[in-house]
Amino acid sequence: MSTVKCIGILTSGGDAPGMNAAIRAVTRSAIYNGLSVKGIYRGFRGLVADEIVDFKSQNVSNIIQMGGTILKTARCKEFMTPEGRKAAYETMQRHNIDALIIIGGDGSLTGARIFAQEYDVPCIGLPGTIDNDLYGTDTTIGYDTALNTIIDAVDKIRDTATSHDRLFFVEVMGRDAGFLALNGAIASGAEAAIIPEFSTEVDQLEEFIKNGFRKSKNSSIVIVAESDLTGGAMHYAERVKNEYPQYDVRVTILGHVQRGGRPTAHDRILASRLGAAAIDALMEDQRNVMIGIVNDEIVYVPFSRAIKNDKPVKRQLVNVLRELSI
Ligand code: F6P
Repeated sequence: MSTVKCIGILTSGGDAPGMNAAIRAVTRSAIYNGLSVKGIYRGFRGLVADEIVDFKSQNVSNIIQMGGTILKTARCKEFMTPEGRKAAYETMQRHNIDALIIIGGDGSLTGARIFAQEYDVPCIGLPGTIDNDLYGTDTTIGYDTALNTIIDAVDKIRDTATSHDRLFFVEVMGRDAGFLALNGAIASGAEAAIIPEFSTEVDQLEEFIKNGFRKSKNSSIVIVAESDLTGGAMHYAERVKNEYPQYDVRVTILGHVQRGGRPTAHDRILASRLGAAAIDALMEDQRNVMIGIVNDEIVYVPFSRAIKNDKPVKRQLVNVLRELSI
């Protein structure tokens, strides 16, 4: 039998569509199982600064369809210090919070891992990031919605690219991961994707040009993952201007538009399943694990494994993109 009676829930790092569905699922599932719930505002910052409210079932009504996070979020520098984490622990004690549910990405789960080790607090993580860069889950909350935002944008860019016979570099988010770029390229019928995972292996621009991107087409769209490793879309546009001045080049940086919007059905269902599973995990006395879904089954992934940054990009996807863009 678990000793947890009261949980605190927070969202941390970059917001992701579906975080609200996860907050709703965690809250309702906790209450269903007889636990009380405290909402912690602005991620770990709210834990350090004591921004906490009681959460009842009604607090999470009518939010499943909303992007962003009703709990707000932050990237908290104080929590990276021992003093900040001490203040956070004291806040937990004041509010009788026995366990934490953290919805966020790599940085947030890293913070949770350190905190759990230092203060022996049960922490359960939910993968919430548009980047999809957490190991141990097929997809993260927000990734599918961001992909759909990307394909909507690229469909529109294609109209103008075709009309003007232009080469477009479209930059998408992902921090240092190429999932959004690669799958965004496949789903939008783009001609190529330039991703950090392969940046040291091959000159991806050279490869794209050498493959004869104009063989059968007048316009082309290349999706570039933002990253210091790729250099971003501007970098490639500059290179084309210098090395292949015959091409008419334009750049679109999609930016934070990718983080907003109503979550897709996929993200709502994913967030709901993960949220309910987080409470199951706590009731089973699990701690310091991220909940994931692999092959449609719930899995528990130790924080140390989830945040290792080694979720591989499937080469088969690269081949599919190459074959289908002839
Ligand atoms: O991790 C999510 C993400 O959107 C990344 O794709 C991006 O690099 C980063 O956050 C942007 O962060 P910020 O909103 O702090 O500029």
